Amino acid sequence: MTAWLQQSVPILYLISAVLFILGLKGLTKVRTARRGNATAAVAMLLAVVATLLEIGVVDYRWIIAGAVVGGLIGAVAALRVEMTAMPELVALFNGFGGGASALVALAILWAAIVEPSRPGTPASVLSGSNALTAFLSVLIGTVTLSGSVIAFAKLSGKLRGRPGWLAARNVINSTASLVAVALGLYLTFGAATPEGVAASAIALAAVGLVFGILLVLPIGGADMPVVISLLNSFSGVAAAATGFVLNNNLLIISGALVGASGLILTQVMCKAMNRTLGHVLFADFGDTDLEGGDTEYRNVRSFSAEEAAMVLEDAESVVVVPGYGLAVAQAQHTVREMADLLTAQGIRVSYAIHPVAGRMPGHMNVLLAEADVPYELLLEMDTINPEFKTTDVVLVVGANDVVNPAAESDPASPIYGMPILKVAEGRSVFVIKRSLSAGYAGIKNTLFELDNTMMLFGDAKKVLQDLVKELKELAA
Ligand code: TAP
Repeated sequence: MTAWLQQSVPILYLISAVLFILGLKGLTKVRTARRGNATAAVAMLLAVVATLLEIGVVDYRWIIAGAVVGGLIGAVAALRVEMTAMPELVALFNGFGGGASALVALAILWAAIVEPSRPGTPASVLSGSNALTAFLSVLIGTVTLSGSVIAFAKLSGKLRGRPGWLAARNVINSTASLVAVALGLYLTFGAATPEGVAASAIALAAVGLVFGILLVLPIGGADMPVVISLLNSFSGVAAAATGFVLNNNLLIISGALVGASGLILTQVMCKAMNRTLGHVLFADFGDTDLEGGDTEYRNVRSFSAEEAAMVLEDAESVVVVPGYGLAVAQAQHTVREMADLLTAQGIRVSYAIHPVAGRMPGHMNVLLAEADVPYELLLEMDTINPEFKTTDVVLVVGANDVVNPAAESDPASPIYGMPILKVAEGRSVFVIKRSLSAGYAGIKNTLFELDNTMMLFGDAKKVLQDLVKELKELAA
C-alpha cells in the first residue's frame, strides 16, 4: 500500500466516527431522520474501506461475496418487511451484529492460539486486557444472538409470549451467569493449551447461547420492545469489546455509540411503559393475552359516520390520537385527507403522539410522516395533555392502551402508573376501532364507557373514508 493511503486511514476513521455521531444526531428528529440514516450508512462504508486499506487485504473475493450476499439479504428484507413487522427485523439484525462480534473474537483466539497450536493462555499470548475483552465479546455476542432470535420468534408470533416460571427462571439465570463468568475467567487466564482454549471458548459460546434463550424466553410480548432495545445495546457493547480485541478505535467508538444509545432508548421506553428494567427482566408481566378483571362493557354508545361528521363540522379544535390500529388499517393517508378537509373549514387539527403508541418507538411519527402530515402538528404527550380540556373533539384512531384512564384511576390495573394521553378530558371523544377488543395489554378500557365517548365501530380506514365522504357532502 502506498504511504499516503496508509496515512489516510486514521483520517478516514476520524471522519467516519464524526459521521456516526452526526447520523445519530439526525435520528433524534423525524425531520432529519432520513438524512441521519444516510449519514450513518456513508460512515459505515468509509469504515469498511478504511479497515480494508489498513489491513492491506490482497484477496477481495470472499469480502465481495460476503458484501453482495449480505447486501442482497438486507435489501430484500428491508424492502419486503411490513411496517408493523419492523421491530422483528430490528431484533434479527441486532442478533446478527452480536453473532458477528462473537465470531470475530473466536477467530482471533483461533488465529493466535488454536490454529498455530501455540501453548499459553490467551492472557499471555494476546495481553490480559485483549483476552478479557475477547471473553466479553464471545459471551455478550452469543447472548445477543440467541436472545434476539427468541425475541424475533416471539414478536412474529412463532413462539408464545407467556411469561412464567418466575422463581425457577431467576435461579437458572443466576446459575448460568455464574457459570459463564467462571468459564470466561478460565478461558482468559487458566486454559494454557490450544485444546483447552478451543474447548473453553466453545463451551463459553454455548453457555452464552443458552443464557440468551433463558433470559428472553420468559419475558412477555408487551415487554419485548424494551428487550429488543436492550439487546441492541448489548450488540453495541459486544462490538466495542471486539474493537478492543482488534485494537480498532472506530469499532470501539461505534460500538460504544450503539451501546449507549440502546441503553438510553431502553430507559425511555421503560419510563413510557411505567416499567423498570429490573421488572422487565426479572418480574412476571407483559403477556399479550394477559386478560384480567372485569371485561364486561356497560353504557357503550356508538355513532354513525354521519353523526360524527356533523359534530366534527361544528368543532373549533380536533385532536387526532393515532394508535396501533392506524398502522394495521394503513389509514394514515385517509386521516390526512380528513384533517385537510377540517382545516379547510377553519378547524384546528393536531395529532397527539404517545411515546409507545403502536409497536415500535416513533411508529406513529413514521406513519404520519409517510402521509406528509406536517411535523409541527405532531404534539408530544406532555404538550398535548393540558390541551385536551379545551378540545372539542378528540378522535382516537386505533389507539387503546395509551388512552386508557385505568392507568390513572385503577391501582389494580396492570398498566396503573403508565403515563397516558388524557383524552377523556376532551368535550367529545370519538373512538374508531373494530370492536371492544382489548389492546396490547389485554385489559378493559374504561374510556369506552364514559358519557362523552362515542364509538365508531369498523376498520379505521373504512370509517375515515366514510367520515371524509360525509364531510364533503356537508361542505357541498
Ligand atoms: P393497542 O393498545 O395495542 O390497541 C390497538 C387497538 O387497535 C386495538 O384495541 C384494536 O381494536 C385496534 N385495531 C386493530 N386493527 C384495527 C383496524 N384495522 N382498524 C381499527 N382499529 C384497529 O395500541 P396503542 O394504544 O397504540 O398502544 C400500544 C400498546 O402496545 C401499549 O400497550 C404499549 O405498551 C405496547 N407496545 C408498545 C410498543 C412501542 S415501543 N410502541 C411496542 C410493543 C408494545 P379492535 O381489535 O377492536 O379493532
